[in-house]
Amino acid sequence: MVFPKNRLRRLRSSAATRSLMRETRVHPHDLIAPLFVVGAKVAAGPIASMPGQRRLSVDQAVAEAASLYQLGIRGVLLFGVTDQKDAIGKSAWDPKGPVPKALRALKKEVPGMTLFSDVCLCEYTDHGHCGVVKGQEILNDPSLPLLAKMAVVHAEAGADFVSPSDMMDGRVAVIREALDKAGLGQSGIMAYSAKFASAFYGPFRDAAGSAPSFGDRGSYQMGAANAREALREMESDREEGADILMVKPGMPYLDVLVQARRRFDLPLAVYQVSGEYSMIQAAAEKGWLDGPRTRDESLLAFKRAGADLIISYFAKAFAGDFQKRGGLDEGA
Ligand code: PBG
Repeated sequence: MVFPKNRLRRLRSSAATRSLMRETRVHPHDLIAPLFVVGAKVAAGPIASMPGQRRLSVDQAVAEAASLYQLGIRGVLLFGVTDQKDAIGKSAWDPKGPVPKALRALKKEVPGMTLFSDVCLCEYTDHGHCGVVKGQEILNDPSLPLLAKMAVVHAEAGADFVSPSDMMDGRVAVIREALDKAGLGQSGIMAYSAKFASAFYGPFRDAAGSAPSFGDRGSYQMGAANAREALREMESDREEGADILMVKPGMPYLDVLVQARRRFDLPLAVYQVSGEYSMIQAAAEKGWLDGPRTRDESLLAFKRAGADLIISYFAKAFAGDFQKRGGLDEGA
């Protein structure tokens, strides 16, 4: 059918009609809020490179999660920020570290929240790489038992889903086996499966103090040019026992998300990373973009592309505005 019989503008004639025709909606229940939790000697406070985000003490993380819960957010993803760093990242599996401490407190104080914890060595190693280093090389297999230890400590402390973000081969299988051996068969794995070596992580590395001291992450994270390889990463994580697959970053990789949605029936997560957040915040601060509208459009794009879960630093702000609108789409 062609014009003039066909007029697509009929579908957009009023706010009410547009609301009925709407194919995609974002709800606070879709969102996971990342939280940065500090160790004993690290100062809590605002993160300069991520306007609106803060490093939190354990107590502050509990209060933040409680207020997120009130706004309808049902998942938080924890990152540790510590000055306890060494060559192999030993403090990563210290049960008294910031993340296990926060997990225990959150399980107790905000029991309705689903707890995800980032499993990676880069915040705990003095060289800032995500695995064990020998010379200039990032070693795969020697890194696996360390990641498994870290995952078990997090799951024991209360993580519902451990979330390996290191991109070592075989980490999902090794973590699954370690969890099961420790009697943690109910603890799940959200795998950062298609994690690209991205310049969009810049602000996060500032926030978590995890920038690599030499080289880059190109030998373990994915190259930006490769979508088929990303699907192979997802396939192997699925076979190794991942419960949830993730694409990261979000907006620059929506094509990968679409392809993953067609191929996999597992829940799919997408991570709108620090650089995506800070770009929008910075432009909004300058008055070049309408912050809330740009935020909502970006979140909607992830749902339209097929994401079930959206990890976003905008989670709280979105949920706050959602509540103010009474959960209605008007204005979003
Ligand atoms: C740890 C990790 C990173 C992010 C999540 N987990 C940093 C990196 O890989 O360099 C990035 C998150 C963000 O930018 O918001 N490996």
